[in-house]
Amino acid sequence: MNIKDKGAVEVTKNCTIGELLSENGIYMPAQCGGRGVCGKCRIRVQNGSLPVTGADRNCLTDAEIEDGIRLACMAEVTPDENELQIELLWQDEENIHALGDESAGEIPDTADPQHDFGIAIDIGSTTLALSLVDITLRNAIGTVTAINHQRSFGADVVSRIQASNDGHGEELQRIIRDDLNRGIDDLVQKYAVPKGKIRRITVAGNTTMQHLLMGYSCETLGVFPFEAVSLKQEDFTAEKVFNRTDLDSAVVTMLPGVTTYVGSDIVSGMYACGVFDREKPVLLVDLGTNGEMAVGNKDRILVTSTAAGPAFEGGNISCGTGSIAGAICGVEIDKDSKRPLIKTIEDAEPVGICGTGVIETTAELLRTGIMDDTGMLDEEWFDEGYELAPGISFTEQDIRELQLAKSAVRAGMEVLVKRYGIKPEELETVYIAGGFGFFLNMEKAADIGLIPREILPMVKPAGNTSLKGAVMALLDENANRIMPEIAKKAEEISLASDTMFSELYMEYMMFDEK
Ligand code: FES
Repeated sequence: MNIKDKGAVEVTKNCTIGELLSENGIYMPAQCGGRGVCGKCRIRVQNGSLPVTGADRNCLTDAEIEDGIRLACMAEVTPDENELQIELLWQDEENIHALGDESAGEIPDTADPQHDFGIAIDIGSTTLALSLVDITLRNAIGTVTAINHQRSFGADVVSRIQASNDGHGEELQRIIRDDLNRGIDDLVQKYAVPKGKIRRITVAGNTTMQHLLMGYSCETLGVFPFEAVSLKQEDFTAEKVFNRTDLDSAVVTMLPGVTTYVGSDIVSGMYACGVFDREKPVLLVDLGTNGEMAVGNKDRILVTSTAAGPAFEGGNISCGTGSIAGAICGVEIDKDSKRPLIKTIEDAEPVGICGTGVIETTAELLRTGIMDDTGMLDEEWFDEGYELAPGISFTEQDIRELQLAKSAVRAGMEVLVKRYGIKPEELETVYIAGGFGFFLNMEKAADIGLIPREILPMVKPAGNTSLKGAVMALLDENANRIMPEIAKKAEEISLASDTMFSELYMEYMMFDEK
C-alpha cells in the first residue's frame, strides 16, 4: 500500500489501515481509540478502493464517502491489496508549541561539555515535555514538547488501560519509549551534550503513563479498588526504562504518585508550587485530561481527580487540535456583526482549535448571545456550528464536551476546598497548571464559570508544574526526600461517590457566573 508523502508500507496480514499505520510508526489522532466513533482518522483513497463501512456512514457525509474518504480504524486491508494508494487527512501534529518558558537565566546555544546534565520529563496523556537541565549551572536550558502517540489508542487514560489489558501493553510501551527517546535525542543533539554527561533523568506523569512506560500490568488500575503496581519513588537504569544503553551514566528516577488517579505529575506540581511548606493553604488545579487537583499546606494535603476529559487540550472537539502553530487560541466576536476575530499560535494559517481557543470561543458565544447559558446555540448556528475560520467550526457537541469538563473541574475544586474545611477566600494562591493554564485568559474562564470570580485575584497561571517539579528534582537534593513525603501526606477524596460533587456537577453545567 502506498501513502501519499510517506511512501510504501507492506501489508503482510489482514488488518485495519489504522493497525498497519501504527506498526509503521504513523499514528492517528484516534480520540475514540479506533472504535469508529470520533471520525478523526480520515483517509482518502487515491487509487484502488475500500468498501464503505457502517462507521463510515455514521461519521461521514455522502459527499465525503463519494470523494473516497474512509475511516482508517475501520478500513480493512489484505496482503493482496498492494495497489492501494491513500492520503492521510489529519493534521500533522509533530511540531508542538512549547508549553511555557521553563528556562531561567542566560541560555547558551550549546552545552558546556565540562558540565553535568539532567533531563526532566513530564508524560501527559496528550503531550510530552522534556527539559534539558545544566546541573552545574542550575539552569533548564531547553525544552521540547511532542504528542504522546499512544493516543492512537484513545484520548484518555481509561482507553489506554483498556488497550493494555486487551494485549497491547508492549506496543504502548514501545510507542512511549520511541516518543521519549526522540525527545531525548533532540535535546542532546540540539545542545551538543556528550551523552556520558547526562547524570540523571526524572520522570513525572500520571500513574497510567508511568505504568505503560515501565511495562507494568494495568489490570488493577481500571477496577475497584484501583490499585497500582507501584507508586514509589524508584531509581532505574536507562536501559530498563528507555531500552537504550548509550545513557548508562544516568540514573532514571520515577517520581512518586499518591494513587492510581493522582499521579506523580501532581506530586511534582505540588513540590514546584511549594504546597508542602506553606502556612496558608494553596490550591493547585491541573487542567489536563484527568483534572487532578490538590489543596494543602505544610500540615495537611487533600487531592482528587475529576475525569474532566480532553476538551481542555483540544481533545474530543470536532475541529480540536493540540497547541500547534495555527491552532486558534484567542477569539473575539463582534457583538453586532457576530463575526469572529481570531488569533492563532505563531500567527499561522488556522488549522484547528486548541484548549484555550475552546474556552475563549465559548466565553465569546455566551457574551454575544449566540449561545445561551444552558449551552444552546442560537437557531442560525445550531446545525452547522459557529464558523471561526473556513472549515473550522465550533459545534453544539463541542459545547457539550466543554460543559462536562468545566463543570467537573469547578465542582471538584469546590468540593475539595469544602472538604478541607476552608472557604475559597481563605486560599493564599490558586495555581492553574497545564499548557492550557499558561495561556488561559482567566477572565474568560470566570465568564463561563470554570473559575469562581471571587478567587480571580489569587489565580496564578503556573504552566507545566509537573515538568517544573521534575526539573527541581534534578537540582534540589531535598526533593528526593520531600516528594515521597508529599505523596504520603496527601489524602485522596473520591468524587465518584460524593453527593455534594454530583449536585454541584449538575449545577455548574450552566454557563453562567455563580
Ligand atoms: S473513528 Fe477512527 S479513531 Fe475514532
